[in-house]
Amino acid sequence: MYERIEPAALEYAEDGTPFSHQFGDVYHTQHGALGQSRHVFLEGNQLPHRWQRKPRFVILETGFGIGLNFLATWAAWRDDPKRCDRLHFISIEKHPFRADDLATLHQRWPEFASLSTRLRAQWPALTPGIHRLWLDDGRVALTLVFGDAATALGKLDARVDAFYLDGFSPARNPDLWSARLCHQLAALAAPVATLATWSVSREVRQHLEYARFRIDKVRGFTGKSEMLRGHIAGTPEQNTTIPAREAVIVGAGLAGTSLAHRLVKRGWSVQLIDAADGPGQGASGNLAGVLRPLPSLDDNRLARLTRAGTLAGIRHLNALGAAGHAVRWSPSGVLHLARDPIHEARQREVVDRQQPPADYLRYVDPAEASALADWPLASGGWWFPGSGWVQPPSLCAANIAAAGAALTVRYGVSVADLARVGDAWQLRDARGDLIAETTCVILANGADIRRLDVARTLPVRSARGQVSHVPATDDSAPKVVVCRLGYVSPAIDGVRSAGATFLVDDDDPALRESEHTDNLAKLDFILPGFSATLDNATMDGRVGFRPASPDRLPMVGAIAAPGNYPADASLKRVLREPGLYAISGFGARGLVWSAIVAETLASQLDGDPLPLERDLVDAIDPGRFVLRRARRDRVPSDG
Ligand SMILES: Cc1cc2nc3c(=O)[nH]c(=O)nc-3n(C[C@H](O)[C@H](O)[C@H](O)COP(=O)(O)OP(=O)(O)OC[C@H]3O[C@@H](n4cnc5c(N)ncnc54)[C@H](O)[C@@H]3O)c2cc1C
Ligand SMILES: C[S@@+](CC[C@H](N)C(=O)[O-])C[C@H]1O[C@@H](n2cnc3c(N)ncnc32)[C@H](O)[C@@H]1O
Repeated sequence: MYERIEPAALEYAEDGTPFSHQFGDVYHTQHGALGQSRHVFLEGNQLPHRWQRKPRFVILETGFGIGLNFLATWAAWRDDPKRCDRLHFISIEKHPFRADDLATLHQRWPEFASLSTRLRAQWPALTPGIHRLWLDDGRVALTLVFGDAATALGKLDARVDAFYLDGFSPARNPDLWSARLCHQLAALAAPVATLATWSVSREVRQHLEYARFRIDKVRGFTGKSEMLRGHIAGTPEQNTTIPAREAVIVGAGLAGTSLAHRLVKRGWSVQLIDAADGPGQGASGNLAGVLRPLPSLDDNRLARLTRAGTLAGIRHLNALGAAGHAVRWSPSGVLHLARDPIHEARQREVVDRQQPPADYLRYVDPAEASALADWPLASGGWWFPGSGWVQPPSLCAANIAAAGAALTVRYGVSVADLARVGDAWQLRDARGDLIAETTCVILANGADIRRLDVARTLPVRSARGQVSHVPATDDSAPKVVVCRLGYVSPAIDGVRSAGATFLVDDDDPALRESEHTDNLAKLDFILPGFSATLDNATMDGRVGFRPASPDRLPMVGAIAAPGNYPADASLKRVLREPGLYAISGFGARGLVWSAIVAETLASQLDGDPLPLERDLVDAIDPGRFVLRRARRDRVPSDG
C-alpha cells in the first residue's frame, strides 16, 4: 500500500516556537534549542570523541523535524580535525517539511545558513521511502526515510553507532517510543552503540531496558532537568575484517560505470574493463533514453524501486553536473499517456488516492496533455515534471571522469573466462592470457553475462531493441518526452529518438526497415498524425541488446552458486560464489536502475547502511532465481 506523506505545516505556538498540529507539541524548547541539540544528542553520545579517527560512523535519529540535530551534528563534524572519514546520518520522518518551510525555520540559526542552503538544494520530493543525499564532497550521507518509523525501522539495513531519540513527548507521540520500536533500534545497534534522549519517562526507560539498552539518568540541558544516556548491552566490538577495497568490474555501460563511480567515491581502487573501445557502446549507447518511474495503485515493488531509482538518478545527474562533469540530459518532463480509457481511469485513480507531490507526479487531462506536448491528443495521463531524457553514453563518460585517478579503465579487453584460484579470481581472454587477478569481481557486462559460466544461475536473456532516429528541428514540438506503449524524445541535436522494439533472443545487430515501421506506428499512437510524412526506408537508428530479467527487476548483489536448494530455503541460505557479484538484468530501464542499484551494491560491498529497504534489496538479489527454481522443481507436474 502506498504510504502517503503528509507534509508538516509551518505553525507556531504562542511563544513563537515551531509547533505541530498533528502532535500538539513544539519541535524544540523555546530557548536554547541548539544548545539542547549539542548537550543532549552530541555530548549524550560522546560526540565528537566517538567518531574520531574512524573510517565511518553511523547515527540514526527518530524524527528529522526541522533538521536542527542534523545541522548541529554536520557542523560539529566539519569543525573536528579528527572527524571520521564518512559520516552517515539516518533520520526517519513521518511528516517532513517542504524545503521552503525549512528555509524559513532555519533563519533562526544564521550560523547554519550555508549548510541549510546545501541541504535544501538536494531536499527530496516528499514521497515515501529512502532518499540518500550526499553532502560535503561525498563524505556526509544524509539518509532520509520518509514514512512511519513503526514500519520503516524494520526495513532498514544498517549498523548504528549512535541513536538520537527525538520524537515529540512520549505522551503525545507514543508510537515513536514504543517497546517494539526500541527493539527495532536494538536490532540495528552496532556492538558498542550508544543512545541519548531528553526524555526520562519511566515507560521509555522500561522499553529501552527491555530492548537491551543500559540506561543512565544524567544532568539535562541547562542543569535543571534530566536526560537519558545509554548503550547497548552485550557483545563487545569485534575486529571486523576490512575488505581489500579493490575490485575489477567487467563492462563500462550504465551498470559498470555507475558502480565504479560509487566504489571509487568510497575510497576503493577499481579496474574497469570493457571489450569496446570506449564507454557506453553496448545497450547504453543510445542517443537518448527515458528516466521516469512507474507508479501502481498498490505501490508494488516495481513502483517503489522505479520511484527510488528515478529520484536517485536525478540526484546523481545533478551531483555530476555540480562537480563539473555535466551529462547530456534534460529534466524536460515526461508525459505518460494512457493507452485506453480504462488505463486512463487507473492512472487518474493512482493520483487521486496517493496524492503524490505535484512536482513529482500529477494527472493531466487531454487538454492539458495536448498543451504540454504542444500536439493535439485524445487522452490524458501521468505528468512527471522532474523526469526527462538522458544520453546514456554521456552519463557513462561522466561517471568515469568523476571517479578520477583511483579508477583504471582498460578498453579493447574482452573477458572470456573467470576461474577461482585460491582466494582470488583470474580473468582470462580468449587466448587464455591473464587479464587480471583479484578477490572481488563485479560482472556488469550486460546481455553478454550469459556467456560466462560463473553466472549461470542468472536467467538473463538478450532483448534486441531498435530505436528510430527521426530528423527534427530543435524548436519543433514536442519539447517533452511523450510515452504511450513506446516513447519519443524531444529533438536533441536535430534528432528525435522514437522506439523501441523488443525481441528476445534475436542476436542480429542489423537495422531493420520492419522495426522502423513498428516504431513509426508506435509514434503515431503517441502523437496522432506525426508519422505521416516520415519515410521508414531512409530512416537511421540504432540497435542494442538489453540484459532482460524475467521479473523485470534488476539482478544486483552476490551471485548464487548452483546447488540443490530446499524448496523452502530463504535468501540467507543461498550459497554465493565468493567475491563474485552481478549488476545486471537492467532490461528496458537501465537509466532508472543504474544510480540506485550501484549505490546499493557499493554500500553492501563497503559495509555502509543500505539506501533501499530490505525487501527491495531482497527483490533484486540475484539469489532469488535459484530459490524460484527450487520451488518450481518441487511442484509435481500434472502434464
Ligand atoms: C533500444 C533500446 C532503448 C532503450 N531505452 C531505454 C530508456 O528509454 N530508458 C531506460 O532507462 N533504459 C532504456 N534502455 C535500456 C538500457 O539502455 C539498458 O538497460 C542499459 O544500457 C544496460 O546497461 P548495462 O551496463 O547493463 O549493459 P551495456 O550497456 O550493454 O554494457 C555492457 C558492457 O559490457 C561490455 N562487455 C560485454 N561482454 C564483455 C566481456 N566479456 N569482456 C569485457 N567487456 C564486455 C560491452 O562492451 C558493454 O560495453 C534501452 C535499451 C535499448 C536497447
Ligand atoms: C521533536 S521533533 C524532531 C526534531 C528534530 N530532531 C530536529 O532536530 O529538529 C519530532 C519529529 O518526529 C516526527 N515523528 C513523530 N512520529 C513519527 C513516526 N511515527 N515516525 C516518524 N516520524 C515521526 C515528527 O513529525 C517530528 O518531526
